[in-house]
Amino acid sequence: MSYVRTEDLVEITPASAGASEEPVALVAIGVFQDTETLTASQEALDELVGGGLTRARDRGDFRGRDSDDDFALFHRDGDGPQRMLFVGMGKVEKADRETVRKLAGRAVRRAEALSVTELHLVVPALVGEEDGAFEAVRAGAEGIHLAAFDFRELKTPGEGDDAPKPLVDRALLSVDGDAGSGLDEAIRVGSAFGAGENLARVLQFRPGNVATPSHLAEVAEAMAADLGLEITVLGPDEMEAEGMGALLSVAAGSDEEPRMIVLEHRGGDEGEAPLALVGKGLTFDTGGISLKPPKGMEDMKFDMSGGAAVLGAMKAIGMLRPGVNVVGVVPSSENMVNGKATKPGDVIRTRQGKTVEVINTDAEGRLILADALSYTADHFKPAAMVDCATLTGACVIALGHQAAALLGSDDDLVEELRGAGDRSGERCWPLPLWDAYRSQLESPVADLKNVGGRPAGSITAALFLSEFKGDVPWAHLDIAGTAYGEPRAPYQRKGGFGFPTRLLLEWVRTRSG
Ligand code: BES
Ligand code: ZN
Ligand code: ZN
Repeated sequence: MSYVRTEDLVEITPASAGASEEPVALVAIGVFQDTETLTASQEALDELVGGGLTRARDRGDFRGRDSDDDFALFHRDGDGPQRMLFVGMGKVEKADRETVRKLAGRAVRRAEALSVTELHLVVPALVGEEDGAFEAVRAGAEGIHLAAFDFRELKTPGEGDDAPKPLVDRALLSVDGDAGSGLDEAIRVGSAFGAGENLARVLQFRPGNVATPSHLAEVAEAMAADLGLEITVLGPDEMEAEGMGALLSVAAGSDEEPRMIVLEHRGGDEGEAPLALVGKGLTFDTGGISLKPPKGMEDMKFDMSGGAAVLGAMKAIGMLRPGVNVVGVVPSSENMVNGKATKPGDVIRTRQGKTVEVINTDAEGRLILADALSYTADHFKPAAMVDCATLTGACVIALGHQAAALLGSDDDLVEELRGAGDRSGERCWPLPLWDAYRSQLESPVADLKNVGGRPAGSITAALFLSEFKGDVPWAHLDIAGTAYGEPRAPYQRKGGFGFPTRLLLEWVRTRSG
């Protein structure tokens, strides 16, 4: 139950024949709402079922709306596809990459319901995009991998069950219309993004008694060996030597040793400043002495979601090997309670030197990140540093489950991330990082306190982090409302979403030109 080679799960290849000719168990094609005419592929499929699609449209039984319920399914015999599924995609002028991911998700969910493990997905070329066919195929591959993911490793297999099989194990992809070239590359990129995000999800789903800090480090080590990434793992002794008093103060209350995972991809020139990704890897957050209430505490196994996303992103980076240097850093600890646990009022010394009065031991994420940020800034002098963390409940109040909060010291970086969020379907939205809020963190006994009270809780948390970034352009994503929960798209399931793996990857991709 350690490192999962998720890229092996679904084998995606470009279709070699047209939608109506390829002999598959299920062909799925998207249909836009309110379109007068059918595309050539849709027409060919319609013909195979004696005009069934046209009839369904004429009768208003299938309208092509952007809804999981708006679809038409036909069954047939003979050569070519055995079943065909027309899936609603909504209005054509609203179509983007997320439309295609949802299309893929709906197709895989239908395949699942039909117990079909083979799928031919036909995606529309995105007219509003520069490289519309490429981007559609990429998003289609991503959506298939994400939708096919199912966390079953902790369920006892039923009698006669083989080893867990993927829900869909073979998929063909093609474009409704002119595909242009580069289909293979689009599938390669989409599959890497999907595989990376799925690794993050596996780690998120694993409970706190499985996914401990040392488990995350073992997974990272296996991955590094597999993909040729450099890896360094710091344990308590190395942290002590680094003077990481903040990270160690969080780990003090736990029997599980902390780890700090450092993964490096060297794709750029030697000596070129890397991009740095830092993720909170808090494998279980009880709140510490400032104990959380019991209701919903089980979800605090997801408090390592930021770290999981960084590991997922590094996996995809290892697979794609972009021409930039990237470093991924995951400080990992539990936040537990024992006789050695940090107490409210204790003053600790961070690696960077500033002292912190710990008012609330539940504000632990910013402590482990403080040491990780200063370590990353000093050791790697990154060109830019982005951290992601399930940091504050206040973020969920501010933005709900639709967007991560985005705060940063560098306006250009913030803008880049916002764009990457839009394109990846993992959206983020800016909050101000104004100095005016800084007084909320003043302590009578130390340089800072670790909480700034209830007002603007996500902003004061980010301001706390900003004290440790050195002079590196830095931005922070608070993913408390977006990393896990009830599914918001058909390619997700209840649990971990891997958010913001794709956002980070999209950003790295833009930066690598
Ligand atoms: N891990 C939590 C934040 C969190 C809350 C994540 C809800 C996901 C959902 C974090 O460590 C925490 O407990 N933050 C406190 C900070 C407070 C004590 C200043 C919070 O937000 O309540
Ligand atoms: Zn906490
Ligand atoms: Zn936490």
